[in-house]
Amino acid sequence: MFEIEFQDTLAIKAPKRSPLVLRTVVLLFSMVCGVYICLICLKQITTHTKTKLLNFKVVNQPCQDPDIEESEIPFMHYPDPVTFSREECACNPVRYFAILSMQRSGSGWFETLLNSHVNVSSNGEIFSVRDRMINISSIVNTMDRVYNLDWFTSASKNACSAAVGFKWMLNQGLMEHHNEIAEYFKRNGVSAIFLFRRNLLRRMISLLANSYDKDAKLLNGTHKSHVHSLAEANILAKYKPTLNSTLILPQLKQIEQTAAKAIEYFNSTRRIVLYYEDLINNRTKLREVQEFLWLPYRELTSRQVKIHSGPLSKQVENWNEVEQALKGTSYESFLHSDYFQM
Ligand SMILES: *[C@@H]1O[C@H](CO)[C@@H](O)[C@H](O)[C@H]1NC(C)=O
Ligand SMILES: *[C@@H]1O[C@H](CO)[C@@H](O)[C@H](O)[C@H]1NC(C)=O
Ligand SMILES: *[C@@H]1O[C@H](CO)[C@@H](O)[C@H](O)[C@H]1NC(C)=O
Ligand SMILES: *[C@@H]1O[C@H](CO)[C@@H](O)[C@H](O)[C@H]1NC(C)=O
Ligand SMILES: *[C@@H]1O[C@H](CO)[C@@H](O)[C@H](O)[C@H]1NC(C)=O
Ligand SMILES: *[C@@H]1O[C@H](CO)[C@@H](O)[C@H](O)[C@H]1NC(C)=O
Repeated sequence: MFEIEFQDTLAIKAPKRSPLVLRTVVLLFSMVCGVYICLICLKQITTHTKTKLLNFKVVNQPCQDPDIEESEIPFMHYPDPVTFSREECACNPVRYFAILSMQRSGSGWFETLLNSHVNVSSNGEIFSVRDRMINISSIVNTMDRVYNLDWFTSASKNACSAAVGFKWMLNQGLMEHHNEIAEYFKRNGVSAIFLFRRNLLRRMISLLANSYDKDAKLLNGTHKSHVHSLAEANILAKYKPTLNSTLILPQLKQIEQTAAKAIEYFNSTRRIVLYYEDLINNRTKLREVQEFLWLPYRELTSRQVKIHSGPLSKQVENWNEVEQALKGTSYESFLHSDYFQM
């Protein structure tokens, strides 16, 4: 009996004491665990924000303006550059654009106009460097840096940019990788500004003259694609190229088709299509461009001077042949159309 009672009290006492010890141990253990978990969490939060920065995606919740239209939201960006802080302009939305064009279509001039706007950074022909357009991952990496405002050129406006972009010639990997690029534009809310020339014959002459000058270097031994004075323009315009009359027609057709194809490839992209001639003749077009990019309106200016002005017949060596080749075709109007004075 006693023995049993003793055993009983022991049996009761023993479990009583052991949970106490156990509890203390568990409590201590969980405290240590808690602290450890907290430390891990803190570490993960910091690495998480770090990778977020590197991947160029943006914290846009706190900046969102509630009055903004739903359709505009995909095109408003709040980049957080790795290389500097946007500071007081961190909550100014930035629009992403790309000027899609062809050589000798006035895109250099157009870009100087855009860059005269205090809030626009158009970073030039960044894909003229082969390594950047060699494959789609190179292209994407380059665009990521540009649109995250981590690309530096003389055009960079940094903190208070409201629109950032660059110009891209169709033959610089754009047509080749059009599927992935259109997908990128859609995913990242990039708007396209197509810039073409209506008079493709004038473009052809400009192309030939420019490629001639690469070797001839008419301006005191330096090659210039764009000039800033009438005197320089006149020197460059002295050279009259000879066009291969059998090639004119097929070449004009091909250029026209390439432009049409480019517009079709990017039919899922928000875009505007501009023509050089319209920009020259109609200043309202520049207002339209600024509206397209949701920019505060500014008068845009450029110091560039047109190289070839005046009638085309004076700019080509074998004008008669060219005339013969185009008479009666859909390109005949190219022979006669001229600009109004700038
Ligand atoms: C793309 O090109 C870059 C630069 O030449 C190179 O480093 C990279 O390995 C290439 N990537 C692919 C997937 O081919
Ligand atoms: C444009 O730039 C000016 C000067 O840097 C800045 O004060 C202004 O907030 C910017 N506007 C926009 C819309 O970003
Ligand atoms: C070329 O050099 C001459 C003499 O040095 C100078 O007078 C002229 O202005 C220069 N022309 C251009 C287009 O730079
Ligand atoms: C014009 O181009 C054709 C086809 O490439 C070529 O056969 C012909 O020799 C060229 N003509 C001239 C005058 O260069
Ligand atoms: C866009 O162009 C593709 C061909 O590149 C075509 O299949 C598709 O139907 C077009 N979409 C629209 C909305 O026009
Ligand atoms: C000038 O451009 C504006 C905007 O695109 C257009 O509405 C207007 O009709 C154009 N004017 C002329 C004379 O072409």
